Amino acid sequence: MIDKYKFVCLILAIALVAALVRLVFVSQNQSSIEPKQTVMENILSRKSVRSYTDRPVSREQLDTLVRAAMAAPTGRDMRPWRFVVINERETLKALSDSLPFAKMLPEAQAAIVVCGDMSVTDKEGNPSRNWPFDCSAATENLLLMAESMGLGAVWTGVYPYEERIKAVKNALNLPENIVPFNLIPVGYPKGAPQPKDKFDQSNIHYNVW
Ligand SMILES: Cc1cc2nc3c(=O)[nH]c(=O)nc-3n(C[C@H](O)[C@H](O)[C@H](O)COP(=O)(O)O)c2cc1C
Repeated sequence: MIDKYKFVCLILAIALVAALVRLVFVSQNQSSIEPKQTVMENILSRKSVRSYTDRPVSREQLDTLVRAAMAAPTGRDMRPWRFVVINERETLKALSDSLPFAKMLPEAQAAIVVCGDMSVTDKEGNPSRNWPFDCSAATENLLLMAESMGLGAVWTGVYPYEERIKAVKNALNLPENIVPFNLIPVGYPKGAPQPKDKFDQSNIHYNVW
């Protein structure tokens, strides 16, 4: 009787282990193959979009872009980024007047200014030295998210150009501690802009193979 009981327990234990192994295998396969292909497609289809239709972009869509931006890696986890979301036509126009490389702004439905906050300090009281890198990582996340949502966007440079930093600070009335890093017009793409293939094998150097 006891032996029978032990035998049933053993079978159940084996079945449980097999189910767990299968679960781990399936979830590993899903996370290591399928999503990566989707990410690669997303990365390869991203392009700078500088012309937009008049189709509106919602507050919710813009919030999603910023949510993606804030998922980026950040040095020492300091998160020194701040985001200014603009959809006021006059402000978009005012910004385009003072920024030579952002002339597409009045056509955009909105723009997001990625900024660094110099008041974010570490335990020693020092501002992040990584803030431009953190803002860059956040920007790329945002641009990839825009692409995946069918939106068009482009990184227009503000930092480190003093005159552009001043122009954006003035137009948005930013406090002293906030440094605008770039400005990203957002809208639905006009026409069919295509991604550039920038892959260049000669940029890769292997120390094995
Ligand atoms: C640091 C940086 C600054 C940029 N500044 C501008 C800009 O001021 N105006 C603009 O139209 N595009 C700007 N771009 C976009 C580049 O021109 C664009 O990424 C490049 O031509 C490659 O094209 P792609 O984004 O379609 O792959 C900038 C990109 C980076 C990374």
